[in-house]
Amino acid sequence: MPSDHPLNRSAFGVRVRIREDNRSVAHVTPLTPIANLSRDPFLGYLGTLQQSGVQQVFTSALRAKDQRFFYELGFTLHEELLLLGHNFATPLSTPLQPTRRGRRSDRSAILHIDESAFPEFWRFDQSALSEAIKATPKTRIRVNAQYPLAGFAITGRSGRLGFLQRLAVHPQHQRSGLGRSLVADALLWSKRRFVRELLVNTQMENVGARELYESMGFSKKSAGLAVLQWSADT
Ligand SMILES: CC(C)(COP(=O)(O)OP(=O)(O)OC[C@H]1O[C@@H](n2cnc3c(N)ncnc32)[C@H](O)[C@@H]1OP(=O)(O)O)[C@@H](O)C(=O)NCCC(=O)NCCS
Repeated sequence: MPSDHPLNRSAFGVRVRIREDNRSVAHVTPLTPIANLSRDPFLGYLGTLQQSGVQQVFTSALRAKDQRFFYELGFTLHEELLLLGHNFATPLSTPLQPTRRGRRSDRSAILHIDESAFPEFWRFDQSALSEAIKATPKTRIRVNAQYPLAGFAITGRSGRLGFLQRLAVHPQHQRSGLGRSLVADALLWSKRRFVRELLVNTQMENVGARELYESMGFSKKSAGLAVLQWSADT
């Protein structure tokens, strides 16, 4: 399905993306403060999605205070996520492996790495990748400089807050220091741009990512995040 599918749009204060590999699944991301979302129009829109064949809707990773709106509409917990932050209080390490700017022509290789590195639910398709790139006013895309393309990081910033939106290294190239170099680059870029805190979220059971982030100075934020889900048959 092309990324310009008619239901891929912003409506009722949320952005909706239908999965390219399974059009019965949609992902919603709130665009406005949750307090501005209205229950009835949003419920109506869920009905429209259902009529178009959508059976399941997943939210983006939501903070605790933003989850209530969706719980009250019948969403249930899909997965809790760990939220980590780096406040730049500790010295940053220098990337040991060279990286370069990710170009538009790298997009299909980036998607291939993403597909190989992540479990099915979390995999990016073209529209999810575009969404991550456009999520913040400023974005940095980095890939390893040497052939073949083995890993990438997408980091965004909005004002003084930074977000490590995506990080993946192809399984055949993991544990050789590339992930650490990409995170080091993200931290240095953020610090140069006066970011106060760089945030990243990861699955609770993702031991590799957690070890990597904590070894680089990230620490767990007290309140985590959660992805909620809605099913048409409930
Ligand atoms: C997480 C990920 C990016 C790490 O990339 P990488 O290139 O293998 O990382 P590095 O080789 O730089 O490893 C850096 C450190 O991370 C930790 N680490 C990485 N993989 C690990 C694993 N499987 N188990 C435990 N620790 C791990 C270790 O502390 C490691 O240091 P060490 O090798 O000196 O022990 C990679 O495993 C990946 O793409 N995973 C799937 C996608 C993902 O989870 N992305 C992050 C989600 S937020």
